[in-house]
Amino acid sequence: MELELESIKKPVILSGVTPSGILTIGHLAGAITNWVKLQEEFECFFMIADLHAITVRQNPAELRKRTLETAAMFIAIGINPEISTLFIQSHLPEHSQLTWVLNSIAGVGECNRMTQFKDKSKQHSENVNVALFDYPVLMAADILLYQSDLVPVGEDQKQHLELTRNLAQRFNHHYSDTFKIPEPYIPKLGARIMSLQEPDKKMSKSDPNQSATIFLTDSDNEIKNKIKRAVTDSGSEIKFSNDKPGISNLITLMHLATNKRISEIENMYVDKGYGVFKTDVADAVANYLRPIRERYLELINNKQELIDILTKGEENARRIAAKTLRKVYKKVGFVQF
Ligand code: TRP
Repeated sequence: MELELESIKKPVILSGVTPSGILTIGHLAGAITNWVKLQEEFECFFMIADLHAITVRQNPAELRKRTLETAAMFIAIGINPEISTLFIQSHLPEHSQLTWVLNSIAGVGECNRMTQFKDKSKQHSENVNVALFDYPVLMAADILLYQSDLVPVGEDQKQHLELTRNLAQRFNHHYSDTFKIPEPYIPKLGARIMSLQEPDKKMSKSDPNQSATIFLTDSDNEIKNKIKRAVTDSGSEIKFSNDKPGISNLITLMHLATNKRISEIENMYVDKGYGVFKTDVADAVANYLRPIRERYLELINNKQELIDILTKGEENARRIAAKTLRKVYKKVGFVQF
């Protein structure tokens, strides 16, 4: 069915992700499984934010590859293109167009206060460009184009959502009611997966030690070897506790992979050593990730299906975005025939 603004009955959620590399099992546990569940309850728009990506230096071939890989991974993980809209930001010029209009009401002072801009300006001091400064306004355009009710955001993006709300209110006040004022959606906290090598640190895709991180593209053997080599704690008890960060992390992984409760897992391994437990966790995680990886590879190796999904996503998104933009253009006084 074609999506129209008037026919949307559920609250609208929009979320974006910058295509910045292969996802890990930490992303899956922390956020993405939540998104998969949100699809039932909300009208969801998931966007690959390639316009945002170029605010820092990118290798064009890499960006192109990662954009498609990120989209494929989202589908593999369970974003269902039949019920949600998955699209690539640059496919909709409306995002850039609305940014320009919002730029005209955004203050240089308020953009200057964005802590992410300050942090990234330091991190990329050789390339502090105007797009990096404008990043939060583009994000506001993403959100406001779809008349979003809710935006799932992490700590680091909260200030950008606050700016979005201010810009929406300012526009509505200055012209007339146009944008819905979005609220932050704080998802239930997912499990936090720690590094397999230093279990008091969060698992990270950019850890220089490759055996610390399970990537969603890792083969069965890579997964199993990483888990078998995971750092464990002294003692021999399989117990979830603060003084056992290594074993606790493996229990969390087992819980993620099998849906068994923590206490149930502990009970299963009373009097069994670390060796048996690790082998079981390795098998469980490999079994859990296998269908995701297989679906991912299928999409990456047969681009046509991926192209069809993203084209349909683009068309759905455009119907909503174009309507909002048309309203905005009219209100600010652009001539329309
Ligand atoms: N800036 C977000 C991030 O880095 C990604 C993003 C772009 C986004 N546009 C968005 C998130 C709109 C939520 C809503 O995580």
